[in-house]
Formats: sequence, structure tokens, C-alpha cells
Amino acid sequence: MSQDAIRTPALADYEPTLADDRDEILAGLRASPKRISPKYFYDSRGSALFDRICELPEYYPTRTELAIMREHDTAIADAVGPGACVIEFGSGSSVKIRVLLSTLREVAAYVPVEISRSHLMTAAEGLAQDFPSLEIRPVCADFTQPFELPAIDHAVRRRVAWFPGSTIGNFEPDDALALLDVMRGQVGTDGGLLIGVDLDKDTAVLERAYNDAAGVTAEFNLNLLRRLNRELDADFDLDAFRHRAHYDRAQRRIEMRLYSTRAQQVRVAGEQLSFADGEHIVTEYSHKYTLGGFASLAKRAGFEVRQVWTDAERLFSVQYLAVD
Ligand code: AVJ
Repeated sequence: MSQDAIRTPALADYEPTLADDRDEILAGLRASPKRISPKYFYDSRGSALFDRICELPEYYPTRTELAIMREHDTAIADAVGPGACVIEFGSGSSVKIRVLLSTLREVAAYVPVEISRSHLMTAAEGLAQDFPSLEIRPVCADFTQPFELPAIDHAVRRRVAWFPGSTIGNFEPDDALALLDVMRGQVGTDGGLLIGVDLDKDTAVLERAYNDAAGVTAEFNLNLLRRLNRELDADFDLDAFRHRAHYDRAQRRIEMRLYSTRAQQVRVAGEQLSFADGEHIVTEYSHKYTLGGFASLAKRAGFEVRQVWTDAERLFSVQYLAVD
């Protein structure tokens, strides 16, 4: 009985160290209001909780984006064209990349770029099993900074960045602009960007999506503190913080926060921090866009929106941008 050997794609490794994170996290916790970057959500428990969020009845983005991709598969394949090298910024969602790779014609190579080496390699190995002839070139790096693209054996007609899930929403406008600019640099002249962008909508629908009845999003948010306890020698009392997400309509963003339910002292990596009763930590912004607002952001980053696909309720959009 023979078993297929597991094909482990060769890795370009620029994973940051915990020491880099320590200073950044402490700086955020000394600031006012206190903040922690949402990029720290995704340890293995956080990733599993996020997968559960994606299945929640209130959380419309994942299923809506997938439905848009399936409904407009031919148009998406036409927009991207054959022979693309697909560069995924982050490599979390295994279902979406499978749909995309099955949609596009003659994909030259797939380059997932992801900060967590273990997530990156697990995802890349799983994909190598399912797409045995696909050239996969994982890069472990912080994708907000320019990184060196690995050499591709197959002939590449065009480089196309893939940024699903409205992860762009995690970035404040200036940072979103900077990230789009990095993407434009990475795909080069004649390159493209296929991106999922969540749309502005009714406040109640948005707040429900981030304050689900089953409390999974609350667990996901609190898991940040659990992670700091374990990995940064912190002593947060998880029972003394409460999750809440609020839609700021003027800023067009969901703000996820953790509220201290009493005055308390917390030690993090050797530093003592004070929380007033009711004081909060901002843990995530999730910006929502109008189609016009996103098009003007894209334009400032040197992209032109070529195609927009949405669902019937206009909850979410998938957009194809070309370098202008
Ligand atoms: C992965 C950033 C797109 O903002 O909707 C989901 C993360 N946070 N529920 C989002 C998230 C709480 C998600 N993104």
C-alpha cells in the first residue's frame, strides 16, 4: 500500500520574533486609549475561533463573499486572465483560495504571504495535496512591508494580488493606502488586485455581526488577553474584561473593544499597567466602504477599479483593480 508523499513547498522565511512584538504591544497599552493590533488575534485558538465566526448566522461577510465568487466565476477569470501568479496577502482562508484557484485559468503559481509560519506551512501543504501540479511558493513575512518575491518556474503573464475577506478593513485609511501601495509595487506594471471589500450598511446589521448571540466574537476578542498571558508573561483576569463592538458611522468602522469591568492593575512583560473602571482597549477596527469611497482610495494608491461584483443586497463586494 503506497501513500502519497507530502509535498512541502520551499519556504522563504522572514517571520518576526516575539521581541519585535513586545515593544509594539507595550507601546499600544501605554497609549490613550489603549490598543492592541488585531494581527495578534490569530494564534491557533484565535484562528479556530475566527473559523467559527465565519459560520455564524450574523456574520455575513464570509458566506456572501464566497457566493459572489461562485456566482461570478467566469467574469473573475476573464478579468484576471490566464497565466497569473496569484499572491495572497495573508493565507488564512483555505476555502476561498480553493474556489479562486479552481476559477482562474492556467494559474502560473501561488504565493501565499503570511506572518505566522505554522499557519502558512499548514495551509500550503494542504493546498499542495489538493492541487498537485500547482507551483506554490510560500513567503513568511509581514505583508505590510515590501518583500522579495520568490522566483517562479512557470511563465507568469501577470501578477495578481489576492486580498479576500475585507481584511483591508482592519487598516485605517492612511495604512490602507500604504498597503495598497505595497501591493501595487509587488504586482508591478500590468498587475492586478482582486480584493474583498465589505460595504457600509445598516448599523444594526453591522453591530449584530460583531456582537453575535452565541458569544463567539467575545471569546475571539478575549483570546487576545489569554494570548498575552501565555506569550508575553501577562496576568490579565479574563473575567474582568468585557467585549463590545460598536459601529462609528462617521468613521464608517466597527470598533471592537475590551472594557475593564473594574479598576485594576495588570502586569505585561514586566510592566505594570493601570485600568480605570470602564476603561477600554481598542482591539480592532473594521472599516466599511461605499463603492465610491473605495474607488477613490484605490485611485490614490495607483489602482483603477475595473470591475465590482456584489450580492443582491449589496452587503459585500469583490473587486478587480488594475494598476493605473
Ligand atoms: C478578518 C478583519 C475581515 O473585520 O470582519 C470578525 C475580523 N473580527 N469578527 C472582520 C473579525 C470580528 C474580520 N476580518
